[in-house]
Amino acid sequence: MPLTELRAALADAVDRLERAGVPNSDVDAELLAAHILNTNRGGVQAAVASGRHLSDDEALSLAKAIERRAEREPLQHITGLAPFRYLELEVGPGVFIPRPETEIVTQAALDYLRSVKAESGTVVVDFCTGSGAIALALATERPELHVYGVEKSAEAYAYAERNKTKLGARNLTLHLGDVAGAFPEFDSTVSLVISNPPYIPVAATPRDIEVRKFDPALALYGGEDGLDVIRDLSETSKRILKPGGPLIIEHGELQGAAIRALLMHDGWSDAETHPDLTGRDRFTVAYKRIS
Ligand SMILES: C[S@@+](CC[C@H](N)C(=O)[O-])C[C@H]1O[C@@H](n2cnc3c(N)ncnc32)[C@H](O)[C@@H]1O
Repeated sequence: MPLTELRAALADAVDRLERAGVPNSDVDAELLAAHILNTNRGGVQAAVASGRHLSDDEALSLAKAIERRAEREPLQHITGLAPFRYLELEVGPGVFIPRPETEIVTQAALDYLRSVKAESGTVVVDFCTGSGAIALALATERPELHVYGVEKSAEAYAYAERNKTKLGARNLTLHLGDVAGAFPEFDSTVSLVISNPPYIPVAATPRDIEVRKFDPALALYGGEDGLDVIRDLSETSKRILKPGGPLIIEHGELQGAAIRALLMHDGWSDAETHPDLTGRDRFTVAYKRIS
């Protein structure tokens, strides 16, 4: 029988997760308890302090959730939710879980749009939108923009649609399709392109079990050198961006030089790679030539 005192159930949960090698087991145990008790971590800690007991249903739900996490299923798949900037997005099997690093990349787009005093109706494209994370952050933080999100996987696209509806982002238009050849109707009309594409070389193995087993392959792997989708991004973005407009690409920490070389070869100007908050190279920005 599962333990019914919350404090004891949590101690048991942390022990189970630690034995399974889950990093930050105490945080995950509290977050899963918070999900089941319909509160937040602070609420769980307060409940522990006040000697709260779990009902049999609650104890069983927590034990099941902990077992799933011990199998290294991502926390966000179990709760069905992932935080991203100011948003809470629906996620699950078939869609990439948005990462904190991408919040910084999104900030670079917002900083650029502020610096050029982007007007109402400014068109921005998020390629490889997945759950819609970047597109929805831009659309909700700058409601005067017109944001387009493009996603190739039908499963991921369904999450983006759901998140768009949930957040009421009427200034976001979603397309199910490929970066290659996207938007034949757009010709030098887009002010900014941003993307967190798949970029892992196909022979490389992601370190984290959660990533390896649960993120969709289409979201992770970018061909032999990891740059296949980035080559398509370069070609399509050069066609649809206004002269001077930036292309912002998230990538792996060791890919900055290769991506700058690819973009310079394709005729982009001022390619520059920027770090994330951990100091690792995380994204490259280049601009469409003006002449
Ligand atoms: C690393 S995930 C990023 C998702 C989301 N932008 C985020 O940051 O959470 C890459 C996404 O690109 C999609 N994708 C892969 N190849 C694509 C292509 N050629 N055209 C459009 N989307 C593609 C995948 O299905 C996946 O959803």
